[in-house]
Amino acid sequence: MKKTLLVIGLCIALQATSQNISIIPKPSTMEVQSGSFTITPATQIVLSESGMEKSAQFLNDYLQKFYGFKLTVTKTSNHKNSIVLDREQMGHPIPGAYTLQVNANTIEIGGDNAIGTFYGVQSLIQLLPIERKQSLTVPAVLIEDKPRFEYRGMHLDVGRHFFPVDFVKKFIDFIAMHKMNTFHWHLTEDQGWRIEIKKYPKLTAVGGYRNGTIIGHHPGTGNDNTRYGGYYTQEQVKEIVKYAADRFITVVPEIEMPGHASAAIAAYPQLSCFPEEATKHSPKVSWSGDSTGKQVQQAWGVFPDVFSPSEYTFSFLQDVLDEVMQLFPSKYIHIGGDECPKDNWKRSEFCQNLIKEKGLKDEHGLQSYFIQRIEKYLNSKGRQIIGWDEILEGGLAPNATVMSWRGEKGGIEAAKQKHNVIMTPGGWVYFDHSPNKQEDSLTIGGYTNLEKVYGYEPVPKELSADEQKYVLGAQANVWTEYMKTPSKVEYMIFPRMEALSEVLWTPKEQKNWEDFQKRVETQVKRYAFLNTQYNRKYNDPANK
Ligand code: ACM
Repeated sequence: MKKTLLVIGLCIALQATSQNISIIPKPSTMEVQSGSFTITPATQIVLSESGMEKSAQFLNDYLQKFYGFKLTVTKTSNHKNSIVLDREQMGHPIPGAYTLQVNANTIEIGGDNAIGTFYGVQSLIQLLPIERKQSLTVPAVLIEDKPRFEYRGMHLDVGRHFFPVDFVKKFIDFIAMHKMNTFHWHLTEDQGWRIEIKKYPKLTAVGGYRNGTIIGHHPGTGNDNTRYGGYYTQEQVKEIVKYAADRFITVVPEIEMPGHASAAIAAYPQLSCFPEEATKHSPKVSWSGDSTGKQVQQAWGVFPDVFSPSEYTFSFLQDVLDEVMQLFPSKYIHIGGDECPKDNWKRSEFCQNLIKEKGLKDEHGLQSYFIQRIEKYLNSKGRQIIGWDEILEGGLAPNATVMSWRGEKGGIEAAKQKHNVIMTPGGWVYFDHSPNKQEDSLTIGGYTNLEKVYGYEPVPKELSADEQKYVLGAQANVWTEYMKTPSKVEYMIFPRMEALSEVLWTPKEQKNWEDFQKRVETQVKRYAFLNTQYNRKYNDPANK
């Protein structure tokens, strides 16, 4: 009888433990050991070295928010009941490697650098019970872990729909939780300019608002006739950049050019080749309010009124970028470059003369001239540009990094030209595509299920070993035409972001779809705990 009880007891203990060991992205190596450590309000965080303060702060904020207590932080260890945040040289070429050891007396996290210690804390958080209480049993494990790619990104379009500062911070927390390191913030669009620029106040006063939005899928069944908009003040931008930096996340701002510029042109019509012409929109689209002069767009799409490559535009953009660089310390500034129709440049006498004067081949050459001028300016200030793969057309700017979105072709081409590449191909990592075959909510279309994201390999097989090193990593793009609310964004990204994080972090040979699916089951329980929405049909048999 006693023996039976012991066996049952052991099984329950093992089950309780194994339920908690579910880390995404999967660590490089993990050994489950016997025993556990219990975090209580009496546990201390011990900082062995300077540089670990952000990790301690993050852990304490997390404990306070989700469990209702926090821990004392000290510099002296008594080797008991403590979480030690330390360094451990691992010499991994990409920042972020760490070891995490949990035993009965201590939890020790050793980062190859401060970033590694932070990621060790992220793994520890995933070992905590998914239940609000003040005695948190952590199973004994020994983890050694390191990132696969140096660029691990998530993009958010705040142009089509505007998201409040608090949600942007929550989105950044999602990035941190998945050991990703880049937030690509798409700040300017045809439907709204979202960043305060002090020298050009009309960018937000005029360009930050549209007089209505189409209803339903493009071209829509009508217009909601409701003024819509918003923008981030420079103080808010600073707050967000700091919030991200405290989580070892770089914010890469995107200022779109020369296309997707309707909002900027509505504010400053001289930026257009034809300042006197009214903004065009599809006759199928229902329009709200004034349709004379330049207007912020109310429907989605690609529009012909793009920046004129004039001296006025270049000095405007340089002024804008000067303010942007003051706010964002990122090495990279994303300058867009996608979907720029050449109609206006073709019929503009000024543009045609410029093509001749500069000895350019055609309008694609003019786009290349545009991007190269901006690149030169940003390079002169110590920054590098990223552009969508259209920047390959007409000749790549000398130091540009290419973001490959129209499939992998642009990325392959850029790597062959010895340019750095970030892979964001539509078929795998466009999280605006429907996550379900039978999708109940309104989306742009397409269908990308969890398994497809999980199966994505960022290094195309077409590249030689030497060319492969130009692939810095990958990113999912979250275009928000059909995402009006934070909860819709969460529904669209989860759990697909779990899959992406494993693509970017976990050694290729360690990936395993069956094992991943089991861990996702634990992760979705965590979403409820974190007050986060997700696609509940992610494992529906209809999605095979
Ligand atoms: C894009 O999706 N237009 C980059």
